[in-house]
Amino acid sequence: MKKTQIIYMDPSRIDGDKLAHPAKLLREGATVVFPTETVYGLGANALSKEAVGKIFVAKGRPSDNPLIVHIAERCELEALVSDVPEAAEALMAVFWPGPLTMIFRKSDAVPEIVTAGLDTVAVRMPSHPLAKRLIKMAGVPVAAPSANLSGKPSPTREEHVLKDLFGKVDCIVCGGETAVGLESTVLDVTGRVPVILRPGGVTRDQIASVTGACQIDEALLKSDSPLVPKSPGMKYTHYSPDADVFMAGGGIDEMVGAILGEAEELKAKGKKVGILATDENMGSYEGFTAVSLGSRQRPEEIASRLFMALRLFDEMKMDVILSETIEEEAIGRAVMNRLKKAAGNRWIERK
Ligand code: TXA
Ligand code: MG
Repeated sequence: MKKTQIIYMDPSRIDGDKLAHPAKLLREGATVVFPTETVYGLGANALSKEAVGKIFVAKGRPSDNPLIVHIAERCELEALVSDVPEAAEALMAVFWPGPLTMIFRKSDAVPEIVTAGLDTVAVRMPSHPLAKRLIKMAGVPVAAPSANLSGKPSPTREEHVLKDLFGKVDCIVCGGETAVGLESTVLDVTGRVPVILRPGGVTRDQIASVTGACQIDEALLKSDSPLVPKSPGMKYTHYSPDADVFMAGGGIDEMVGAILGEAEELKAKGKKVGILATDENMGSYEGFTAVSLGSRQRPEEIASRLFMALRLFDEMKMDVILSETIEEEAIGRAVMNRLKKAAGNRWIERK
């Protein structure tokens, strides 16, 4: 077990002296977890293959899954990429810093371990004040996947990070809850039209409003698609809690009815059942353990609580999680993408 140092810091009152230590650790090749506006990240110096290697070990992450390189300032980009397409320039002006990751052709400075041998590199500039300041003080670009054990839901709270990575990393900077709650949008800008490889906080319409057009990777649109997703990370089982997850679809009455019917049956079999619900339908689940993710009118609220709720039900040792679904538009697309992965695309089947 590694010796892990834990530092607590209020993002609205950053203490530069205190942050100098984790910044130095990053610069010198150690692993440091820090909050971003999406989820917590597990960072290391992106220019050092030894440092980046420690990320894969700590997470138990497959080596063919490339990492996102985080920067604090626009001028750091040139060293990492071989060219900056016009569309990317326009998108950066609007969405950086923020939850948009862009895929560029890589430069020779980026070690292969970061990109899993691809000739492209993912780059993002986070907007979280602690992340920004830490990366800037480190003075090096920071490769960082989500700070969860591989396969588990991404961490949105410090206790999630402590549970997964205490004893596995050199330092954890705790800075409270993350705001977006789902990982960044991953956008390939190397082609003529930008393509979303992973839906996230920045939506297709928002991107299209800047670039004129934006496509979504085919493999994401059809859950039964034989196509291999272009973003290597999307092929793995992800976000999976220990419990079996099943979704319910259709109209509200049909959806709630399916969940109640299934929950009754499972309860009769002695199973522990947790329901992922929304504010509007909580009244229907009396007598069951249910967590409301928020209002169906505010999908960004649902996005911010999904991973927390999946982890909460694991803490409660649920056997089965039954989940409502929401419309796949705007950030609802990202919510449904993560939920389908957590469920292994399984739906409640009612006869
Ligand atoms: O919000 C986020 O993006 C968080 C925070 C910490 O920044 N990070 C994150 O990283 O979610 P990670 O490693 O869990 O997910 C990165 C995704 C994976 O699906 C990976 O396959 C994809 O980005 N990716 C990275 N480099 C790529 C590349 N060159 N081409 C295609 N996909 C790439
Ligand atoms: Mg991840």
